Amino acid sequence: MIENNVVKDPRTLVMSEVMTPDKVNFNGNVHGGHLLSLLDRVAYACASRYAARTIVTLSVDQVFFKEPIYVGELVICSACVNYVGNTSLEIGIRVVAENLLKRTSRHTNTCYFTMVALDDNGRPTKIPPLTIENPVQQRRYNEALQRKKARLQLHDVMKKQ
Ligand SMILES: CC(C)(COP(=O)(O)OP(=O)(O)OC[C@H]1O[C@@H](n2cnc3c(N)ncnc32)[C@H](O)[C@@H]1OP(=O)(O)O)[C@@H](O)C(=O)NCCC(=O)NCCS
Repeated sequence: MIENNVVKDPRTLVMSEVMTPDKVNFNGNVHGGHLLSLLDRVAYACASRYAARTIVTLSVDQVFFKEPIYVGELVICSACVNYVGNTSLEIGIRVVAENLLKRTSRHTNTCYFTMVALDDNGRPTKIPPLTIENPVQQRRYNEALQRKKARLQLHDVMKKQ
């Protein structure tokens, strides 16, 4: 029998990928472009499942490659809908790289994607509001709202230049 169970927690999503040798950069470690592509797919999956709408990426911030990721490691991306506005939402992604042979893990970075829901005409459309159920969700919401204000301010400054 095929069951169609409803996703219990549509605001969070975990996606993992083993870093295979075809992903290397000129330095022999995992290519930054591959990680960006993975992060974009994670943000897309998390946002479109939450909103149940067509989703596009508007912006990405705080992608710092402070530590290399090595071939053979398992990259685990834990994504969460931090904030929902009217037509946009912020997805936070925490990235952990796991050494499968040593069974160790390290937090390599956290980044934030702003995604926008589109209607059938390709125009921004309303997203179901986010319900806040605990202090962690409230903190993430508040911080995301601050980041959104900062992004909009920066956008205004850049436009004037
Ligand atoms: C995403 C897109 C439809 C938005 O169009 P737009 O005319 O800027 O839409 P709006 O001005 O109505 O803004 C839509 C939402 O984005 C938010 N937004 C716009 N600019 C922003 C910025 N610089 N920082 C943060 N949020 C911003 C708005 O606040 C609004 O959110 P809200 O409704 O929750 O308040 C349009 O920019 C687009 O098509 N971009 C290309 C997307 C794409 O191809 N992505 C793949 C990249 S390779």
